Amino acid sequence: MRLSVVGCGYLGAVHAAAMADLGHDVVGIDVDAGKIERLSRGEAPFFEPGLQDLLHSGLGSGRLRFTTDPAALASAELHFIAVGTPQRGDGDGADLSFVDAAFAQVLAHGADGDIVVGKSTVPVGTVERLAASIPADGPDLTLAWNPEFLREGHAVADSLTPDRLVFGVADGSADSPAAAALERVYARPLHEGTPLIVTDWATAELVKVAANAFLATKISFINAMAEIAEVTGADVTQLADAIGHDARIGRRFLNAGVGFGGGCLPKDIRAFSARARELGRGDSVRFLDEVDTINLRRRDRVVRLAAELLGDEPAGHRIAVLGLAFKPDSDDVRDSPALEIASALRAAGAVVVAADPHAAANARLRDPGLRTVDTAAEALAGAELVILLTEWTEFVTLDPVAVAGLTAERRVIDARNALDPEAWIRAGWDYRGLGRRSAA
Ligand code: UGA
Repeated sequence: MRLSVVGCGYLGAVHAAAMADLGHDVVGIDVDAGKIERLSRGEAPFFEPGLQDLLHSGLGSGRLRFTTDPAALASAELHFIAVGTPQRGDGDGADLSFVDAAFAQVLAHGADGDIVVGKSTVPVGTVERLAASIPADGPDLTLAWNPEFLREGHAVADSLTPDRLVFGVADGSADSPAAAALERVYARPLHEGTPLIVTDWATAELVKVAANAFLATKISFINAMAEIAEVTGADVTQLADAIGHDARIGRRFLNAGVGFGGGCLPKDIRAFSARARELGRGDSVRFLDEVDTINLRRRDRVVRLAAELLGDEPAGHRIAVLGLAFKPDSDDVRDSPALEIASALRAAGAVVVAADPHAAANARLRDPGLRTVDTAAEALAGAELVILLTEWTEFVTLDPVAVAGLTAERRVIDARNALDPEAWIRAGWDYRGLGRRSAA
């Protein structure tokens, strides 16, 4: 099929390359000339394992190209909208200006019979609004919503072999032309057995925000248990293991620590609450405000614990920060708990030296005064306190015996509960997990 992907940011760039891999002719369109130039050279504009190879094979096959020219939309029969929906500057709701602009481009360059498929995360009711906005003399377009569930760091695998596909079509019917077209787009994963749910627009829009709200709630739930564990001497990781064996609960996304960050979960739960309030159903998801509050409280907890370990006054003390990205295998620092904690400690006067294998440059753009170094060893040199904030493999596998000689003090906060406490304690460290039994 001939496809266009409007918006070549995180979601769109990966999606365009994945669609070419599925055998389609794909044009990716974005207003950012620099980004289009890099993508056209086969260079991923952000760190994502496997993306570079996927881009190379797509460009090499001749089935994938990138352009800033919206007129290229005319070469496609099905258009994906994959632009961002960030939090609005003036509140918690989603900023839909990029979605509206992308749709306007399709209206200007699309043709009768084209199908427009949204992938961006949008407030429920958006598709209906877009459909109603098509002018009488505009092209005869069919709208569908196909939410995306890819995770940063696993985006290529999540796109090529998704764990489910959701098609939201106007009448909710699997027999509709839009559903049939999407079945052709995703013929390979469907053939491989990927579960498919064909539903109406509103359900498809809600599935996405409900999934992220559930994941966020699961994380804040276990972090709430960590708070209780901290005052009772219980161990939250063992608690998570024990409840996680119940298949109805499941162990995944039950890792207590500094909580969730990134460009999706935090803004999505806020936008969901804002939309529910607009719909007169704010009470239904009021618990999401608490989920947000618990989440942000974990960042303060680490800052306070660091101060406590440094004699209540972090000023002047040297702190090694391991990790700045919001999670490993990503260079993304949007709403990153790690970066926020590093910046807060710096603001309190601590001498923070941070290492991150891929996110240091992005972190410095947000906090230009932040001192970053290339390796954990450099960060650790002379440190009075070490804080693990992003569980990159190279940090989690540090040998506590080997690095003990680098620091001024053997004090570590494992803010991701990712280290082996026994090994660190045995090597003479004052080990502090979050919601975990500690050494001292
Ligand atoms: C999330 C969802 O997992 C994807 O399914 C969704 O498609 C995506 O948002 C999106 O809406 O685009 P992502 O933001 O890449 O994906 O990151 P996650 O893997 O969900 O992690 C989110 C945050 O939660 C990270 O900061 C991570 O460190 C934290 N986390 C995760 C925990 O604190 N504990 C856990 O047990 C799991």
